[in-house]
Amino acid sequence: MASKVFPLIEKEKIRQVTGLEMIPSENYVSSDVLKALGSILTNKYSEGFPGRRYYGGNEVIDEIENYAVDLAKKLFNVPVALVQSYSGSPANMAVTMAVCSPGDTVMGLALSSGGHLTHGANLSFSSIFYKAVNYNVGKDWKIDFEELEALALKHKPKLIWAGTTAYPYKLDYKKFRKIADKVGATLVADIAHIAGLIVGGVHESPAPFADIITTTTHKTLRGPRGAMVMVTERGLKKDPEIKSKIERAIIPGLQGGPHNHQTAAIAVSLEEALQPSFKKYAAQVAKNAAVLAKELDTTSEVHLVLMPLTSYGYGMGYQAQYALEEAGITVNKNTIPGEPASPFYPSGIRLGTPALTTRGMKEKDMIKIAGWIKRALEEIRGLDLPQEQDLRKDFLKETKKKLHTNKNLKIIRAEIKTFAEKFPVPGIN
Ligand SMILES: Cc1ncc(COP(=O)(O)O)c(C=O)c1O
Repeated sequence: MASKVFPLIEKEKIRQVTGLEMIPSENYVSSDVLKALGSILTNKYSEGFPGRRYYGGNEVIDEIENYAVDLAKKLFNVPVALVQSYSGSPANMAVTMAVCSPGDTVMGLALSSGGHLTHGANLSFSSIFYKAVNYNVGKDWKIDFEELEALALKHKPKLIWAGTTAYPYKLDYKKFRKIADKVGATLVADIAHIAGLIVGGVHESPAPFADIITTTTHKTLRGPRGAMVMVTERGLKKDPEIKSKIERAIIPGLQGGPHNHQTAAIAVSLEEALQPSFKKYAAQVAKNAAVLAKELDTTSEVHLVLMPLTSYGYGMGYQAQYALEEAGITVNKNTIPGEPASPFYPSGIRLGTPALTTRGMKEKDMIKIAGWIKRALEEIRGLDLPQEQDLRKDFLKETKKKLHTNKNLKIIRAEIKTFAEKFPVPGIN
């Protein structure tokens, strides 16, 4: 019997080819990465680490995992790499478990300032089981290192996260290091968003400054969904036992058997990231983001643009996301620093260039795309979020319906389809 899933995959393929994927944490993997991910390696159980497995029959799996580890060490110039974490959040949880005891203090950038859930946000394990202290960005939208230092001196965190999810600027790891040293904290760089930019030489590497580095493999690095945890020379000196502590946190702490098909696909993507062509790709991602940002009247030093929508009206994040989706542009609503509306009904959108750049788009294409974005956003003028909280849900439902039948958005959608189809998507055409 043919599965009902395959026609749905075909439907999703059409969406991915005919639209513009601008969520900055997304990308298109190569056919080889897909091949490894869809392989028979998914059949095997391999609890443990290479040479130390609970189950038999892991000779080949050991070779694959060792190969992935060696590639990661080479790519990021670190002495230790672990590749089994299922995704970024469990990797961050493993590191927190390895460094801290429950109740210890962890510090990270606030969600509302562009930080990640796992760095101490409400409702995340990182604030449920640990004492979370958040630092923020200042009025210039950049990390406020004075506040960070004052909070660190006051709260004496065991772990400081240096990592971002919605932050359009480069990070100064040296500043983080100085503060971590003042309070004896372990400095963990979460490079999930910028790993590809680091490999490409666009962004400074945290390897000389951080003790531990975590990353997802599926964003700018352009691998399968997955994660890696790495320990630097400095981190090994600080705690020679840290590798085995992190291993124990991964298994038995958090996981059972590793996803071997995922490990293999990570290895393939790391091989690709070691090619000279990847450096060109990373440089183009940043060039594209800089042009896109300029066209949208803001700035970007990395792969993403945080666009405030305050000039379009009040609390316009949802409305913008809906309108752009109707036009064939996928973005996500996002809070902006000093959020004037509400964290639940934010006033900005977050856009990125990693996926578009994989399709071969360049600066001139970003100018066109910014034009479509601005045209689509004209359609949300007047659709301000109601001040009354109890009216908001129904208002947004109605707004979505209204935008779905908007003629101007349909015209833009057709133009974008014709444009997008000219750029191949790896693994699809
Ligand atoms: C900085 C950062 N760390 C960790 C993660 C978590 O990764 P995952 O979604 O794979 O759990 C993300 C995902 O957005 C991220 O941006």
